[in-house]
Amino acid sequence: MGMPARHAARDGSTVAGGGSTVAGGGSAATRRVVRRLRPLVRPERGVLLGAAALLLAGTAAETVTVWLFGRLTDRALVQGSPREFCAPAAVWLAVAIAGGMCGYAGHLLEARASGRLLGRLREAMLARLHVLSPTFFAQRPAGDLLTRFGSDVDAVDELVGTGLVQAVTTGCGVVCFTTAAFVLCWELALLACAAAPLHWLLTRRLAGRVRAVSHAERAAEGRIAAVAEENIAASALVQTHGMAAHELRRLRHHGAAWRDARFAAHRLAAANAVLASLLETVFVLAVLGVGSWEIATGRLTVGGLLSFAGFLGYLYGPLQELGELVVAVGSAVAAGERIAEVLDHPAEVADAPDARPLGRVRGHLRFEHVHLTYPDALGPALDGVSFALRPSELTVLTGGSGAGKSTVTRLLTRLHDPSAGRILLDGHDLRRVTLASLRRAVTVVAQDSPLVDGTLWENIAWGEPDADPARVAAAARAAGVDGFAARLPDGYDTPLGQSGRRLSGGQRRRVTLARGLLRDSPVLVLDEPTAGLDDTAAEPLLRTLRRLAADRTVLVITHDLRLAARADHLVVLDRGRLARPASESLFGPDGLTITGNVRP
Ligand SMILES: Nc1ncnc2c1ncn2[C@@H]1O[C@H](COP(=O)(O)OP(=O)(O)O)[C@@H](O)[C@H]1O
Ligand SMILES: [Mg+2]
Repeated sequence: MGMPARHAARDGSTVAGGGSTVAGGGSAATRRVVRRLRPLVRPERGVLLGAAALLLAGTAAETVTVWLFGRLTDRALVQGSPREFCAPAAVWLAVAIAGGMCGYAGHLLEARASGRLLGRLREAMLARLHVLSPTFFAQRPAGDLLTRFGSDVDAVDELVGTGLVQAVTTGCGVVCFTTAAFVLCWELALLACAAAPLHWLLTRRLAGRVRAVSHAERAAEGRIAAVAEENIAASALVQTHGMAAHELRRLRHHGAAWRDARFAAHRLAAANAVLASLLETVFVLAVLGVGSWEIATGRLTVGGLLSFAGFLGYLYGPLQELGELVVAVGSAVAAGERIAEVLDHPAEVADAPDARPLGRVRGHLRFEHVHLTYPDALGPALDGVSFALRPSELTVLTGGSGAGKSTVTRLLTRLHDPSAGRILLDGHDLRRVTLASLRRAVTVVAQDSPLVDGTLWENIAWGEPDADPARVAAAARAAGVDGFAARLPDGYDTPLGQSGRRLSGGQRRRVTLARGLLRDSPVLVLDEPTAGLDDTAAEPLLRTLRRLAADRTVLVITHDLRLAARADHLVVLDRGRLARPASESLFGPDGLTITGNVRP
């Protein structure tokens, strides 16, 4: 563990830093992954120790059987005495059965512990995703994140579930068999042990390379999953735009990178296995040669030599396994790093240490010189914006596309925090109140609010699963869901399919609207609620919004003149800044002008 600081400083590297890995998990990356996973492993410590103990007992039993084999050879086989056979044979069988049972129980325990651990790992990742901002998701394809839940978690299992226990038992096996070999004939044992440092060098060389190629393999796997995911989501687009060949080429491109990395990993593992087995052959031959001489001088029996050869088999076996283990560890570390990247990704917003829950919310909102520059963005999305929203008022926020309208909604629910300036709700800076209480007080029905895989009713009640059915029905009526629900085969119990594919765009928007209305929060924000609605559908919605605005703060983002005409207050954004309200160009050629605070 005494790693020089120089090495520890290279911590950040991923693929490029592969060369410094030391066998047995000494590298910075391995330690980082192990440190990250330790709290998740801790609850299973007892069970894993139990598993290791049982597997060890199994190994000990094997050592004993090998020794019994030598005795049986000398007493029964060499002397041709069947009477001498039964007793040692019975002991051998009994030891073998006991050892087998220990091994069986050990593997079961290990499987239990690793199963629970992997479950916990997935839960920890999902919990992390629940606090990460839209920026995080914008930077990574969903498919790549999905593989972290699948094959990356499986690879970590190799390290923690199988690997940890296997390392312990392999290590102890080596000690057991080595001790036994020394007791039997120390000169031969010394000779046999000369193989160990060579093995170690071999394994050490392997470890660094394996991690580098594993990293490339996992990353390519993520990109392949991303292609698959995009092609599933955009299947119609790919077909109608004639992009099938292009998408196939993309898959082939990532597939080639994946194949190369995988091939390199297999080549390394295979070369290592061959070298290890050649090494073993050389040493076994040497031991047999020296052993025959020991027998000639009467210092060793034939049974003794056979036992010894047996021990060697058991000794070199684990040494080879150690090589395989190193491959598994390399791949697990690469996977663990991808998982740790999610687990350790800093949350952009979190409760301040002194955050307080909001009490009764009246709904006075004030933006004071708010700036927001998205990470990686060239310019600000909001650039010193100040305005106020009041209870019992319907405010319309409008502006060209990319003006920063949706950004305002994200700031209101603290998906991001302002880079400068502040936002106050009833006089409290949003950063000083708890996220949970803020998000109960402010409901945003986003432009692209998704539907979930469930029935129409479940989708409306999604944020409030325990809501009174009468309230759900009322929200559905208010949002105009009633009109089309009756025409669905099972009414409100109709499954909507993934992402609500069986509904039209306008219908989907009404469902998300109903879901937002059901929350009945003091601040309601709707992003383009009338997009896709014709006049007959929009009219009742406008009346609903006016009615809702009677006793709460309502902010509606829209290009829709029907809505702007009914607003109490109009805010116009232009490329991140407040603009003079209502230039004609904004509202089209019919020349409607709206000024300052307007009333219908
Ligand atoms: N997650 C993001 N990361 C970087 N830039 C973003 C992000 N979201 C929006 N933007 C940029 O911020 C600006 C405002 O976006 P938005 O608020 O969505 O505009 P709109 O007024 O059309 O709703 C746009 O230029 C957009 O490209
Ligand atoms: Mg928008």
